[in-house]
Amino acid sequence: MNTKVTLAGVEFKNPVTTASGTFGSGAEYGELVDLNLLGAVVTKGVANVPWPGNPTPRIAETCSGMLNAIGLQNPGVDVFIERDIPFLRQFDTRIIVNVCGKTTDEYIETVERLGDTDVDMLEINISCPNVKEGGIAFGQNPKAVEDITRAIKAKARQPIIMKLSPNVTDITETARAAEAGGADALSLINTLTGMKIDIERQTFALANKTGGLSGPGIKPVAVRMVYQVANAVKLPIIGMGGIRNAADAIEFILAGASMVAVGTTNFTNPYATAEIVQGIEDYMRRHNVEDINDLIGLVK
Ligand SMILES: Cc1cc2nc3c(=O)[nH]c(=O)nc-3n(C[C@H](O)[C@H](O)[C@H](O)COP(=O)(O)O)c2cc1C
Repeated sequence: MNTKVTLAGVEFKNPVTTASGTFGSGAEYGELVDLNLLGAVVTKGVANVPWPGNPTPRIAETCSGMLNAIGLQNPGVDVFIERDIPFLRQFDTRIIVNVCGKTTDEYIETVERLGDTDVDMLEINISCPNVKEGGIAFGQNPKAVEDITRAIKAKARQPIIMKLSPNVTDITETARAAEAGGADALSLINTLTGMKIDIERQTFALANKTGGLSGPGIKPVAVRMVYQVANAVKLPIIGMGGIRNAADAIEFILAGASMVAVGTTNFTNPYATAEIVQGIEDYMRRHNVEDINDLIGLVK
């Protein structure tokens, strides 16, 4: 049975990875999950300098999911290179580094610093607020997506995955823009903007007022978007949004994802990633599937 998939020339032992920001940079979860079992680890977002993140409270539970407004708190690329890459390199898994920035130059500075390191791919989070555009995320405007993709691709030494925002009217427009800009792969979806009000305190549940909705409740939206994008562009896709188990992962693969990422579920079941690797193999055995690649985009 073959569970190997290849994205942009990089081979993964299986299609299961972690969603950025939900698995630390591997060390915390490495005590619970054998990272050697995973196709890849996607790190939390890293910027050119340390970011303090947003004021608290910055997470809130919702029906079948959660809202977060962490604000991409991170220790900066220098600490990341010194501390996190050597840790992850001990394992037989691919490393995908998630990159964030407030200007194109900030993204490029981080991408260039990572260029000399031993990481396999870069995932560019274009849901970060773009200060030059008054805080609107790069990922919400197709022209901005194409421009930033082209600018990063010109400097990147590793293949780049553009991570798309679902907070748009037509996600195929931003997907096509990333493809036109030279992206090697796409990942989707990031969180959906939401709000929760604490009626006892009569104020917002999050200090940031709004936050990103994630977890099982968003899965049908994510599957729909993966299907649309898979049928609009030629690039390979990492699908995510509410995946809890192997059945959910298979849904994304049948919709057109070459890989899947597990996010919010890590908080309720820290073993989920390893269980999903096993569950996909069980599914393949039950359905006499010899090669996982035969399942990608099977449902038309
Ligand atoms: C607490 C938290 C932190 C996150 N941090 C990042 C991040 O740093 N960069 C990024 O691209 N996405 C980030 N995300 C989005 C996830 O990677 C993922 O796209 C989204 O949560 C949908 O998947 P899920 O429903 O399985 O969590 C974060 C999500 C959560 C819940």
